Amino acid sequence: DITPVKSVLASYFDIGVAVEPPELSGPHAQLLLKHFNSIVAGNAMKWGPIEPTEGNFNWGPADAIANFARANGLKMRGHTLLWHNQNPAWLFRDAVGNPLESGNPAHRALLIQRLQSHLNAVVSRYNDVVSDWDVVNEVIDPSQPNGLRNTPWLQIIGPDYIDLAFQFAAAATTTGGLYINDFNTEDPAKRDALANVVRGLLARGIRVDGVGHQTHIRIDYPPLERIAQSIDLFTSLGLDNQITELDISAYSNDTDTSPVSQETLVRQGYRYRDLFDLFRAKSSQISSVTLWGLADDNTWLKTFPIRRDDKPLLFDEQLQAKPAYYGVVDPSQLP
Ligand code: G3I
Repeated sequence: DITPVKSVLASYFDIGVAVEPPELSGPHAQLLLKHFNSIVAGNAMKWGPIEPTEGNFNWGPADAIANFARANGLKMRGHTLLWHNQNPAWLFRDAVGNPLESGNPAHRALLIQRLQSHLNAVVSRYNDVVSDWDVVNEVIDPSQPNGLRNTPWLQIIGPDYIDLAFQFAAAATTTGGLYINDFNTEDPAKRDALANVVRGLLARGIRVDGVGHQTHIRIDYPPLERIAQSIDLFTSLGLDNQITELDISAYSNDTDTSPVSQETLVRQGYRYRDLFDLFRAKSSQISSVTLWGLADDNTWLKTFPIRRDDKPLLFDEQLQAKPAYYGVVDPSQLP
């Protein structure tokens, strides 16, 4: 009987996984409850799934995950209140189905009102269980002059949509921390663009509590020092850090489809070891670490960037502990 992941990590930070509703029963639920003390919805709380038509909420899947957290005393992260993906078709359209336009004040006002209603409804419903929200997700693009990704949010509302999202979330939450979440936050250009946006928010008096570092990384990239540097930078701005979507692809490029070897899985185990050594060393700066999935039978990396048999998580397709698990829990067991 193996050691629970949470029993070696819970004194450092919360340790969670992303889940889909079917994983809330049977062997997946047992594995989850044995090893983790925090969860996040992999999809169920995103705008498209949860408000498919305006004002008509599909609470079922998100409630199932929230109720599982409530029933089992788990912490829960809220993902995500504003994104450019997985949105319902109506969100950026007017009442007769025409696209909302940039520079149209009525359209701007309509989208702001939708943002406020949505955030208020979702945040209030889960105030008792969600401890932290990804208020905005993936809004940074360092190749843009203002550092902001070119999305309908930016085009229709303008750059202050981020301020508004944080203000609406702050007004609705009773306890939840408010996070700006993004990928590649260890990349120096991305990190610096994110830091500039955060500095602007703080200078305007907008409440932001922390940065969510997705941390979708690879077996050989990036160097872990970069992750450490990014965490230190946001700590220096007075923010908390959370690792929100951790996985380590077994592949080093976007095109390789060869089967993942046992040797690679062992290398992955050592990389997980080194990464969690870093997280523990910085545990005063990191309040939570979440893996983007429970086991290799259900990971977005089976279909992205191409269809292939990637194995990025701690447990395998049969829910058995991998070298990655031993890297985190007991590296002395690694070959
Ligand atoms: O819900 C529909 C279902 O009705 C339909 O039958 C099925 C057929 O394709 O698709 C289902 O939707 C899929 C959904 O996952 C739920 O399984 C979408 O096609 C698929 O695109 C979607 O992928 C999700 C992806 O975000 C979308 O961008 C992944 O599961 C999810 O893990 C991934 O998570 C994101 C984070 O939110 C943000 N950071 C990156 C991360 C990885 O992409």
